[in-house]
Amino acid sequence: MTSILQFSDIHFGVEDKNAMAAVRDYAKTLSPDLALICGDITQSGKIEEFKAARDWIEQFDAPKIVTPGNHDTPMFGILHRIFDPFGRYNKFIAPLGETMFVDENIALMPYNTARGVQAKLDWSLGVVDLSDLAAKVSHLKAKNPSVLKMIAVHHPLIYPPVSPLIKETKRGEAAVKLLSDANIDGVLSGHVHAPFVVEREPGQTELLSIGSGTLSTRQRGKPASFNHIEIDSRDIRVTAINWTGDKFERAEAWTKSRVDLRRTA
Ligand SMILES: [Fe+2]
Repeated sequence: MTSILQFSDIHFGVEDKNAMAAVRDYAKTLSPDLALICGDITQSGKIEEFKAARDWIEQFDAPKIVTPGNHDTPMFGILHRIFDPFGRYNKFIAPLGETMFVDENIALMPYNTARGVQAKLDWSLGVVDLSDLAAKVSHLKAKNPSVLKMIAVHHPLIYPPVSPLIKETKRGEAAVKLLSDANIDGVLSGHVHAPFVVEREPGQTELLSIGSGTLSTRQRGKPASFNHIEIDSRDIRVTAINWTGDKFERAEAWTKSRVDLRRTA
């Protein structure tokens, strides 16, 4: 069995300090094989926020997969945002993460959908470079066909209707098609600050989308949370672990047969 902790949107600087103080001990009880952090690790991309994030991430005694979010570029440094948007992320966080996690159940890679600046007013939106994504996916496709293949991003490629935040990721729909055509099984994301599991276009893509909530104080109608993902030879189970204000507890859960994830057409 593979045990994955999926965190996102901790936003160090405005993190939920009580939840973050408790999450380390709770996480140990879940015996993680992988700690996944789907971006927005910091609130403003400040050096002290990155250092706090680094110190927290380093404490997991397990491999890590990390991908940046739109908050992980310097919010108050336009020159940094233009010329070196992920310089601080690359210095403090990137060395902590693996380029790919593979075990007997899953092969998982990060893919960066965040940008420092964009030719539009809203720089917080996600962007996919399809040729870059295709190159990444080719590494996943080469893996054992019996393992689930997933990518980890910050922005949902397509925002689910259940999301408290509905935006558009540039070339997100094309990315979903690319991943589906490559028989990728799922996408793990953050950004919307609420947990969800959605199966896209049943019978066509069967691409499972798993979003994790936030451990920051920037909540959108849902408590602070992270996801516990368990994968065995038969099923994938996703459980939102909610912070009640004084403890973590298992909340909403989804189970999907791995056989059903495979395309029939
Ligand atoms: Fe966020």
